Amino acid sequence: MKKVLITRKLIEENFINIQSKFRLIHNQSDKNLSDNDIIKMSIDCDGILTFPNNNFHTDLLNKLSDSIKIIANYAVGFGNIDIDTANKKKILVTNTPEVLTEATAEVSILLLLGASRRAYEGRIFAENKNWEWSSDFLIGKQMTNKKLGILGMGRIGRAVADIARGFGMEIHYHNRSRLPENLEKGAIFHEQLKDLLSQSEFLSINCPGGKDNTNLLNKETLKYLPDGAVVANAARGEIINDKDMLDAIRVGKVFALGLDVYNGEPQINEEYLKLKNLFLLPHLGSATKKTRIAMGERAINNLDQFLNKSVKPNDQVN
Ligand code: GLV
Repeated sequence: MKKVLITRKLIEENFINIQSKFRLIHNQSDKNLSDNDIIKMSIDCDGILTFPNNNFHTDLLNKLSDSIKIIANYAVGFGNIDIDTANKKKILVTNTPEVLTEATAEVSILLLLGASRRAYEGRIFAENKNWEWSSDFLIGKQMTNKKLGILGMGRIGRAVADIARGFGMEIHYHNRSRLPENLEKGAIFHEQLKDLLSQSEFLSINCPGGKDNTNLLNKETLKYLPDGAVVANAARGEIINDKDMLDAIRVGKVFALGLDVYNGEPQINEEYLKLKNLFLLPHLGSATKKTRIAMGERAINNLDQFLNKSVKPNDQVN
């Protein structure tokens, strides 16, 4: 049997399945492993099953045993793995697309609503029992019938659009390329990011992270948003320049911000915590049982196809 390192805890259903297919080294403690631990534990492994908070940077990849032929990432995003170095080392990388689309789209909508309807402040008042119903108490922004900009119209962005249509929203998007009509479903394409932003009363970020998309929302681009926009990021923290975003919030350019992902997470820019018009979640995009099991199955299947069946895995990304 081939041998696989699992770098964090796996949901039991997945563990039962993977146990039947591979010899395993499993970090059951679920504490993030150091680079040295990963190098030592995987020394005679054929593959690694890893998670979005394990960073396979150049140096770590270079120090991995040559026996490692595949890294299966338990996430659709794979910015935590340096693909150029993986290519040089001839390590195949896979992700888990499709199965987390709906769960993550739900969280994008939750962020937009939580931010625009001031859910965080509301919770504090409810807990403190120091409020009374009043005609102007905690007035938020209504999402229904507004314009929604979607940055990144892949599967998740399109699922966000599908839900938002139920709110009567006019959908605008920016993407590397225009979608065919059957996927666009009437959404308005903007070739330039600034043109999308200028339409986005509400903005949902759903593009991949990584070098190309780092700091897409910065001092220069944020100024194109309509005054009082609501922004939600369920994609990757690096897409937003935190300092510039904080400035935009302070001057009211951004009315409210919803975040599920952070630069350097689980760290968070402390300045965000001083503001009440933020709705913050701890990277819960794909966190439903159904979705997590499906992600695990997808990752296990990729390992199985490559290591046991010697075929190209369905979700190879490099
Ligand atoms: C989660 O963040 C993912 O990329 O799957």
